[in-house]
Amino acid sequence: MKLPLPPGTRLPNHTVWLNGELVRGDQAAISLWDRGARAGGAIFETLRVYAGRPFAWEKHLERLVLSAAELGFPVPPSPSQLREAVDQVLAAEKLSDAVIRITVTRGVPGGRPVRTGAWVDAEPLGGRLWAGTRRRDSQPDGGARLMLSRHPFSPGWLGRHKTTSRLAWELAREEANAARADETLLVSPSGHVLEGAASNVFAVRPDGALLTPPLDADVLPGITRALVLSLCPALGIEVRQLPIPFDALKLADEVFLTNSVQEIVPVAELAGRPVPSQEVGRRLLEAYRALVTSG
Ligand SMILES: Cc1ncc(COP(=O)(O)O)c(C=O)c1O
Repeated sequence: MKLPLPPGTRLPNHTVWLNGELVRGDQAAISLWDRGARAGGAIFETLRVYAGRPFAWEKHLERLVLSAAELGFPVPPSPSQLREAVDQVLAAEKLSDAVIRITVTRGVPGGRPVRTGAWVDAEPLGGRLWAGTRRRDSQPDGGARLMLSRHPFSPGWLGRHKTTSRLAWELAREEANAARADETLLVSPSGHVLEGAASNVFAVRPDGALLTPPLDADVLPGITRALVLSLCPALGIEVRQLPIPFDALKLADEVFLTNSVQEIVPVAELAGRPVPSQEVGRRLLEAYRALVTSG
């Protein structure tokens, strides 16, 4: 089947696993009757693959399955089928350090039983790293530039799920791209820090306590955020999930961002001002990388 695309459209030509088959180009298509296409009715996971192995696979699959259940999706493909799909796509694209995305739609209504649409695609890691992530790894005090979004942000309860209803987050990310920053900080109408457009946020207060906004602020329950919280006790770091006013963030000794692809990224510049320290974030990064190596 040939898709009726506007003349001159160039489709990515990656191999994609789609509903059980490997396809590419024109064939990597879902029905426009699928609720994923019509109304942002899909959920997804983005995972980093280290030397051919997806990191924190069970945790990502757990988040996907819990969201599917809570949002009333048809039953998604089994974790083992999706795991096999990941291996097939990595092999077809000859990728070993990569970013995998798993997407599951709510399917076309009316059938019995309704099936989800599901696909898995992969990209080389290199194209996905922020400039600030590269600076983190190449300079002792290198890190991300974090800018403040122009718009107050009210995610609502869906903010706790990784859905494709993502225009507000995408536009926020584009603010960062336009300003040559790495990430955009989302702040609520009451002036509280929520998260980055694609990351969770941590801050070290002048009294040494590490803080991150609580999940009841309707932020995404990030997998990297959860791993950071679990690493803190063994490192003797006291961490609390508490609301952070943006005015307090500006006075923080340290700010860092967490995301499965970027890992833990110290913020070097917040809304145009240098952030003095990176110590806690870099200690956590070392422990996180040890987890990746052992995992
Ligand atoms: C809005 C938002 N917050 C946080 C994160 C970080 O989540 P994770 O650590 O699971 O990658 C993401 C990831 O893309 C995100 O989109």
